[in-house]
Amino acid sequence: MPGIVIVGAQWGDEGKGKITDLLAEGGDAVVRFQGGNNAGHTIVRGEQEWKLHLIPSGILYPGKLCIIGNGVVIDPRVLIDELDGLRARGVDVGGLRISANAHLIMPYHMLLDSAGEAKLGSLQIGTTRRGIGPCYADKAARLGIRVQDLLDEKILKKKIVAAMEPKRLSLRPYEKDPALDLHTMTEEFLIFGHRLEQHIADTSKLIWQLLDEHKKVILEGAQGAMLDIDHGTYPFVTSSNPLAGAACVGTGIGPKAIDEIWGISKAYTTRVGAGPFPSELHDGMGETLRQRGGEFGTTTGRPRRTGWLDLVALRYAARLNTMTSLVVTKLDVLSGLDRIQVCTGYRGADGAEFEDFPYHQTVLHHTTSKLTELGGWKEDLGECRTLSDLPSGAREYLDFIAEQIGVSVALVGVGPGREQVVWTEAGRQTLMGGDGAS
Ligand code: IMP
Repeated sequence: MPGIVIVGAQWGDEGKGKITDLLAEGGDAVVRFQGGNNAGHTIVRGEQEWKLHLIPSGILYPGKLCIIGNGVVIDPRVLIDELDGLRARGVDVGGLRISANAHLIMPYHMLLDSAGEAKLGSLQIGTTRRGIGPCYADKAARLGIRVQDLLDEKILKKKIVAAMEPKRLSLRPYEKDPALDLHTMTEEFLIFGHRLEQHIADTSKLIWQLLDEHKKVILEGAQGAMLDIDHGTYPFVTSSNPLAGAACVGTGIGPKAIDEIWGISKAYTTRVGAGPFPSELHDGMGETLRQRGGEFGTTTGRPRRTGWLDLVALRYAARLNTMTSLVVTKLDVLSGLDRIQVCTGYRGADGAEFEDFPYHQTVLHHTTSKLTELGGWKEDLGECRTLSDLPSGAREYLDFIAEQIGVSVALVGVGPGREQVVWTEAGRQTLMGGDGAS
């Protein structure tokens, strides 16, 4: 199984980091293909917790190749801080490779992100204010600064001038900001270049070589399908494509190099930032899910909006990704509930019912969820390691999801620890050829 893609099947924060970490152990390389430091992974190893925003989760395995693909937007300051933090904790970061074609988040991108949000007022998207949107906008406008530009002082300066010129008016309120001084910025970014140079590579070629040698390459997406700029809840989305298809473009491989596509979904739903969320709970149950699930952003610390599992959105995500397996995370959070509700359809403002995700935003904005009630379970799931360890209510819940979306469940998360997972037979067979996994 050379190419396996891991993508979020909801609005991000599904727990992709832990799944990537698990698969990375038996993989040869982990590659990120889109997004930037708007994402955040928390990985728990024994007593230790790691929070990463840019570096692929595989970095914790000594010597493992960890690649930041061309589709990622990189804030070099954040990347260097992350590298320094890992080194300080004794992690060998020698396996990190950064695409020379990846775009850089510049100081003006961050200022424009915040300024853009402020201008939108009540219509604001609730971005992470990390400069993601303005950076991708410059990439599309062919005004971006790429990693390779850090290695050429003349080009770097020229490109910064060209990129800032059309933004003069929007940047006027910040004209005294020392971070925007051309000389200071160029000097600072050249230093970043020196620090990162040893990691900069032709990463597509590296991945082709690995695939030619039948090595296992794990392609790790950030955010989730519903935040996709083309297919998500636009304009309340991120500025990239967090879908399996983007794993090709964001790394430089063709679709035939991908064998498996694992979609990750929580056992319920969360969303950060503004935008439609049909199964959102505004009551005490929503608060219960937030507290039990620790639903506060890794990147911004914002409380996440919470709701029941949305199977309409999940079916849509399964189709958008041609998902081959589903991973259900945080099932333990639902323990102790007498009844569990699941959103199986939407109801429009005029009473119309939808089983498929409505294409029109106005319709979506006014939908409420049609709920199906399932039995809960009382038992704590933290020690469950096989499907038969799970209480029948939990098994029925998983069966219901799999049947509703037409994709089998490969893996279930039952606690924050690395070992707190249940591999299903389907998951074991897909990944290990029947050998099983720990
Ligand atoms: P941006 O990606 O910072 O431009 O933010 C756009 C939207 O995507 C906002 O609603 C953010 O809250 C959301 N978003 C971006 N990254 C993540 C993530 O990693 N998890 C969850 N939501 C995200």
